[in-house]
Amino acid sequence: MNRFTKRLLVVLAVGGLAIQAVPVERTNPPVTAELVAPQPVHDLLVRACYDCHSHETVWPWYASVAPASWLVARDVEEGREHLDFSTFASLEPGRAAHALREIAEVLEEGEMPPWFYTPLHPDARLSADEVATLRAWAVEAAGGERVPGTAEHDDDR
Ligand code: HEC
Repeated sequence: MNRFTKRLLVVLAVGGLAIQAVPVERTNPPVTAELVAPQPVHDLLVRACYDCHSHETVWPWYASVAPASWLVARDVEEGREHLDFSTFASLEPGRAAHALREIAEVLEEGEMPPWFYTPLHPDARLSADEVATLRAWAVEAAGGERVPGTAEHDDDR
């Protein structure tokens, strides 16, 4: 090994350690208003979605090692911003219905859970039947297929 290679390795090692010092937020805030859904639906959502769309994230070990930790933390932060099952029950009916329709849509298109997530979380893979169960629930809970306006379905929430 020549001295340049050695120097490069030292720089890489020091850099690899240094980036561990960048603070990363890995928090699970309190669950204030969890989505109310039938048990089978709830279980599927926990399995496939809760890591990024709830306050009950199971942080994997690599979420403690930069730079993977940055990616995981960003996914969770963005996921919670778009859709948060831990506060879902506090949404106005109109926004809840909108969110439910989006859930039906991403399921239909196979966009969620994201492709990069399932290889490391095989439990999160949903069978066609499971996708159908979730989709049917989301459409029904949203007040049916493509109903414009949503004021009429705030009865039992
Ligand atoms: C690995 C983390 C992760 C998992 C697991 C995950 N999501 Fe997401 N989800 C995200 C992120 C990040 C976004 C926001 C960025 C985007 O739209 O890609 C998002 C966005 C969404 C949106 C909003 C889409 C839009 O157009 O705004 C919906 C709805 C959604 N996810 C539903 C689900 C459902 C349902 C599941 C489980 C079947 C799930 N997600 C699993 C990370 C995740």
